[in-house]
Amino acid sequence: MNYTKILGTGSYLPERVMLNSELEAMVDTSDEWIQARTGIKERHIAREDETTCDMCEQAALNAIQAADIDPSEIDLIVLATSTPDLIYPSTACLLQARLGVSNTCAAFDVQAACSGFVYAFSIAEKFIQSGSVKKALVVGADANSKILDWTDRGTCVLFGDGAGAIILEASDEPGVYATRLHADGSHAHLLQVPSGVSKPTGDPFIRMSGNEVFKFAVNAMGSIVDETLQECGLSKSDIDWLVPHQANQRIIKATARKLGVTMDKVILTVAEHGNTSGGSIPLALDTGIRDGRIKRGDKLFLEAVGSGFTWGSIVLKY
Ligand code: COA
Repeated sequence: MNYTKILGTGSYLPERVMLNSELEAMVDTSDEWIQARTGIKERHIAREDETTCDMCEQAALNAIQAADIDPSEIDLIVLATSTPDLIYPSTACLLQARLGVSNTCAAFDVQAACSGFVYAFSIAEKFIQSGSVKKALVVGADANSKILDWTDRGTCVLFGDGAGAIILEASDEPGVYATRLHADGSHAHLLQVPSGVSKPTGDPFIRMSGNEVFKFAVNAMGSIVDETLQECGLSKSDIDWLVPHQANQRIIKATARKLGVTMDKVILTVAEHGNTSGGSIPLALDTGIRDGRIKRGDKLFLEAVGSGFTWGSIVLKY
């Protein structure tokens, strides 16, 4: 059996930073409310002409450089996004061409909203485990600002834009210890962008029942801790870092409590990034690795919950 290791990580955030104070001028909210309820202070917003693929390209180039590989070595591209540049081709195919490796590997998108990166990573890991892929590029990115209703205070204060990427490689030793994926489509109405292609309702913005999503997220993230550790035979004390999806600091604190880690063992980027959906975990991972907190050999617990509902986790040794 082949294990999967992270060879390198990269990320990208748009240049423009939007502070909570700017939102105060747009909707009936306050910096104090946003920080107290979510932990968010600011978020990055893509330029009007800046696309998800533009952000993915920068993050991917960063990860390729960190992994010290040539793009031609990549056997597979899996890209998690809910805000693709086009309906088709996939953003993964657009990215493949940008990287100059057209026709050298399979490339496809995964749509699992805020759990997208955990889904994409798990899929790539299965390809590596089976022996059919040696090196995979996994990218998570979203341009949430393009699907926000800037008059809806229940959503527009929560989200941001950004991308993260990792290069995975087959290895003789762990690697990834466990991946868990879940979905429960019966909750679709609680967090959705109602408009689509075959069902164009005319409402192309994120709609959310915040409080119900919050309660589901806290429960799902709590139960996935036990389930994942049980699967890989590790205990809570084995985990060095929690690298969570960055939606809300209160959800993250509840998960950290459940995992028995103090907040100084959590990579927290929600204050500066807001919720970047597919980009959130790889952005946090890259932040923790580049600032030297996450070191080779550390055991990481990654977890996310998103629209669907979808949720999942990964335990790995960096
Ligand atoms: N500024 C000020 N007040 C706001 C507000 C804002 N931006 N957004 C909502 N409110 C108000 C509500 O209208 C409500 O007012 P009311 O009591 O007069 O009706 C009050 O704040 C409380 O709303 P509620 O939704 O119960 O607050 P909450 O404590 O649940 O916090 C969220 C709201 C959105 C921060 C929280 O529910 C949350 O984070 N949910 C999960 C979101 C998430 O993670 N989504 C992505 C999942 S991947």
